[in-house]
Amino acid sequence: MKILVTGGAGFIGSNFVHYLIEHSDHTVTVLDKLTYAGNLASLEGLPDNRFQFVKGDICDAALVDELFARHDAVVHYAAESHNDNSLDDPRPFLDTNIVGTYTLLEAARRHDIRLHHISTDEVYGDLELDDPQRFTETTPYNPSSPYSSTKAGSDLLVRAWVRSFGVKATLSNCSNNYGPYQHVEKFIPRQITNVLLGERPKLYGTGENVRDWIHANDHSSAVLTVLERGRLGETYLIGADGERNNKQVVELILREMGQPADAYDHVNDRPGHDLRYAIDPSKLRDELGWRPAFADFEAGLADTIAWYRANEAWWMPQKSATEARYQAQGQ
Ligand code: NAD
Ligand code: DAU
Repeated sequence: MKILVTGGAGFIGSNFVHYLIEHSDHTVTVLDKLTYAGNLASLEGLPDNRFQFVKGDICDAALVDELFARHDAVVHYAAESHNDNSLDDPRPFLDTNIVGTYTLLEAARRHDIRLHHISTDEVYGDLELDDPQRFTETTPYNPSSPYSSTKAGSDLLVRAWVRSFGVKATLSNCSNNYGPYQHVEKFIPRQITNVLLGERPKLYGTGENVRDWIHANDHSSAVLTVLERGRLGETYLIGADGERNNKQVVELILREMGQPADAYDHVNDRPGHDLRYAIDPSKLRDELGWRPAFADFEAGLADTIAWYRANEAWWMPQKSATEARYQAQGQ
């Protein structure tokens, strides 16, 4: 197949592009606006005969139309992805996550092209710490932030275009990803790069909030599985049984980096901060036989720390502007 990947210069999209090139015969075109979160350095080393990059906006209907005409499938990662930014300025989230997804759906309808929509577990809201139920495909939507509400809106658009217009789409909702090439605004890279620069990690609130961590490579293998074998119109939840609270993660990072486990600061909490996410991935495992390869979070985290240590040139250009934004918010 000729696959168009939107947002392929971001953290998870670029991981998927590398994964596709290594694990399939498909060719790939990336469509990416190169916002602050996009980085062409994440796509270095890909073969010219199987990879092409197009700089552009998913809201540009003419460009999207031209690209859909010459591809067989689309995997849609492009989004404004950071909760803290959405609390500061929600507008770009509405433009890209809602209008951008709408633009792709209209093109998918015109070209009758296969589309896979990438979404997040945050559309389901949050769970109590002791809730025995995890999120499943039938959990009601209950998003908390401008980011998660625009992702929820985009999911609902996809479902409506499937039902009303017969668009050949699947959806997946994944838990928190970690791994190389993640922007330093996000939790794990922020703390690793702080320690590398002699700064202390910053924990929001008490640090009791739980996230369900999955390595980005496992997200990519799950998406390729759904793209190739998922049932049209279906949603698949992607997770790897990786629940940890934020305090545990910061302590793991500090220990792995040779620092005392309590060498971090508590800072202002995120307004409306979701308490816990947890994915039940049974449908994906039972129906499509998918399994994560990175079962050991501590080992994956150690590899990720080693990657940031070795790739300062990749992350350093964004670090000071990112920290200046956090400082202005007391975080
Ligand atoms: P990211 O912020 O690292 O990358 C987003 C990419 O989209 C960037 O390359 C950016 O330039 C591009 N982009 C933004 N607006 C665009 C536009 N209008 N047109 C074209 N390109 C545009 O995000 P990420 O963490 O890699 O997340 C990718 C997707 O996965 C998002 O849809 C996100 O909601 C979803 N997701 C992320 C996680 C996570 O833990 N990071 C978990 C589950 C789902
Ligand atoms: O669950 C999937 C979602 O995971 C994706 O949809 C989002 O795109 C992705 O950004 C991520 O959202 P979170 O808000 O969970 O991720 P973030 O890395 O921003 O924060 C993870 C947790 O760490 C969260 O509880 C907030 C906390 N945190 C974050 C930062 C940046 C801190 O304690 N300190 C920090 O400095």
